[in-house]
Amino acid sequence: MRIAVFASGNGSNFQAIAEAIASGEVDATIAFLFCDKPKAYAIERAKQYNIPVISFTPKGFEDRVAYENEILKHLAEEKVDLVVLAGYMRIVGPTLLSAYADRIVNIHPSLLPDFPGRHGIQDAFEAGVPETGVTVHFVDEGVDTGPIIAQEKVAILPEDTLETLETRIHQVEHRIFPQVIQQLAQKNKG
Ligand code: GAR
Repeated sequence: MRIAVFASGNGSNFQAIAEAIASGEVDATIAFLFCDKPKAYAIERAKQYNIPVISFTPKGFEDRVAYENEILKHLAEEKVDLVVLAGYMRIVGPTLLSAYADRIVNIHPSLLPDFPGRHGIQDAFEAGVPETGVTVHFVDEGVDTGPIIAQEKVAILPEDTLETLETRIHQVEHRIFPQVIQQLAQKNKG
């Protein structure tokens, strides 16, 4: 299975996937990292792993359709089977969604449908709920909506700070995202 990972920032999930592939846990190839932020640290990580990078922002395009058509061109050229959103902080538009129906997955740091959006960890922490978690789901036209593939709970401890909670959430993300990708790779094989 050939995947493209989309990231906008730090890229720790991208790295976890790259490592799981390198160690043989995940039977897939990262065709390229797509990054909509040319200065994102994810790009440095891709260079360390010798993974090709495609990076451009929507700014240079007339509209989102043109931006996503350019992305689609690369996905087609590289025969990508699955698009993996790993901290890609943009809504996926109908152009990409219709071309890759049921073949785009996202990770989100909360127990969806609770706390969608950009600040899932902080929002749960500030809400004072006893637990939050991680969700991997297929992407639809909404923000952090779409059929759930996997979810894991993470307790919020009385002594937690936002930072300690973030660390534990990321540890879970780095474990379950590669696992889900491996499940999808097995299915893709038929
Ligand atoms: C991850 O925690 C991911 O769940 C979150 O962005 C972070 C990216 O970290 N995504 C969302 O909030 C999507 N709404 P990373 O760049 O280190 O992988």
